[in-house]
Amino acid sequence: MIGFNYKDGVLYADNVALPALAEEYGTPLYVYSAGRLRENVDRLRSALQKALPADRQPLIAFACKANSNLAVLRLLGTMGLGSDIVSGGELDRVLTAGIPADKVVYSGVGKSDEELLAAINADILQINVESRAELERIAGLAEDCGKKTRIAFRMNPDVDAETHHKIATGRHDDKFGMTRAEIEELYVWAHEHDFLEPYGLQMHIGSQLTNMKPFREAYEKLAAFATKIKDQGLPLRNLDLGGGLGIIYKDETPPDLDAYAEIIRDIILPLGTDITLEPGRFIAGDAGLLLCRVSYIKQSEQVRHLILDAGMNDLVRPAMYDAYHEVRPVVPRAGDMVRYDVVGPVCETGDTFIRDYDLPETRKRDYLALMCAGAYGFVMASNYNTRPLPAEVLVDGDKSAIIRHRQTVRDILDLDTIPGWLTT
Ligand code: LLP
Repeated sequence: MIGFNYKDGVLYADNVALPALAEEYGTPLYVYSAGRLRENVDRLRSALQKALPADRQPLIAFACKANSNLAVLRLLGTMGLGSDIVSGGELDRVLTAGIPADKVVYSGVGKSDEELLAAINADILQINVESRAELERIAGLAEDCGKKTRIAFRMNPDVDAETHHKIATGRHDDKFGMTRAEIEELYVWAHEHDFLEPYGLQMHIGSQLTNMKPFREAYEKLAAFATKIKDQGLPLRNLDLGGGLGIIYKDETPPDLDAYAEIIRDIILPLGTDITLEPGRFIAGDAGLLLCRVSYIKQSEQVRHLILDAGMNDLVRPAMYDAYHEVRPVVPRAGDMVRYDVVGPVCETGDTFIRDYDLPETRKRDYLALMCAGAYGFVMASNYNTRPLPAEVLVDGDKSAIIRHRQTVRDILDLDTIPGWLTT
C-alpha cells in the first residue's frame, strides 16, 4: 500500500500500522509516507513529460520550507529534485541532505549578509532578488568574494492568486518581488556589473492554488516581460515559475496537472529558456499526518470536547489560517457517529483543530490522525507552553525509521540562562 489507508479496520502508513508506530515512538508524532512522496513527484513529472519535450523538462526545486527534514530532502534529492530555500539554515539542510548546489534557488525578502555569503560561496543556481537594496548588497558581497554570482529577479505580477489572504504573495502591495519597471532598470545595471550574472526571472504568486487561472494570468505577464528583456539583448537563461499547486484537504477541486503543464508549454516553453518550478505543499502535503492520542473527553453542557495530546504548537495551520485538517480515527469503532469539538491542550481557545465534527465513538487513549500535515506541519511547530517539538518518522513500504527525535523539556530549558545578578 502507498500512503495512508485502512486495512482490516486499522489506519496504515504504507505497510506499517499506525498504532505500532505510536507505541514505539510516542505521540504526537509526524508520520511521512515515502511512497506517497515519490508518487506525488511522479504525478507532477508525468504531466510535465506529457506536455513538454524531454530536453526541456523543468527543474523541480522542492520548496523545503514545507518540510525540511533531512531524510525527506535526501529522498527527494535522490529522485533528482533540487530545492527552493529561504534561509541560510535551509541552505545547510539541503546541502547536508546531498542536494547539489546547482539545483538550489534562494528566495526571500530579508536575506542577511551571512546568508547571502553562504549562498554565494556555495555557488547555488540562482539567488532570487527581491529588491534594489538586496541587489546592491549581493553585488558588494560577490565582489568581496571575487565570485560572479547568478541572480534572478523576482517579478511581482500583481495577480490575485484567489487563495487565503495570508498566503497570497503576488499582489502589488504584498512585500514580495519588484515591478517590471524597476527590474528592467536593474537588469541592465546587473548585466554591466563584473560580479553579477543576471540569469532570469522568478515569480511565486501564492500557495494552495487549485484553480489554474491565476497561474495562466501570471505566466502570461512573466512571458511578455521576459520577451521584452530578451529583445533588449539581455541574457535570460531561466524562468522560475514558483510553487503554489494545491492539494485536497477537504473538498477542493484537484488541481489539473495536465492543464498546468499545458499552460507552461503554451506560454513559457516558446521563450527557449530553462524552466524551474518550486512546489512544496503538492509534494509533501498529503504525504504526512500528525498522529496523536486522546488525553481526555470532556462533556460540557453543549459540547463534547476531544482533548488531544497534540496542540496548536504542533500543528498551527488551523489556528493560523482556519485551515481544515481531516481527523481520522486510527482504529474506528462500529456504531453511530458522535459529534465532537477536537481541541489541543494549549491554553488558548484558538487551539481548536475542528468544531462540530462527526467521528465514530472515541475514547480516552484512542489514537487519531490529523491528515495532510506533511507540508507546513512540523516546520511551523513551536515550543509554545514549553511543549517539546514532536518526533518525525518516515515509513517506506514495510520499513519505518525515526528521522527526528522528540525534543525534551531539558533541551528547551538548556537554551535559557539566568543572569548572575538574579542568582544571588
Ligand atoms: N516558492 C516561494 C518563493 C514561496 O514563498 C513558497 C511558499 C513556495 C515556493 C512553495 O509554495 P507551495 O508550493 O508550498 O504552495 N504556511 C502556509 C504556506 C506558506 C507558503 C509560503 N511560501 C500554510 O501552511 O498554508
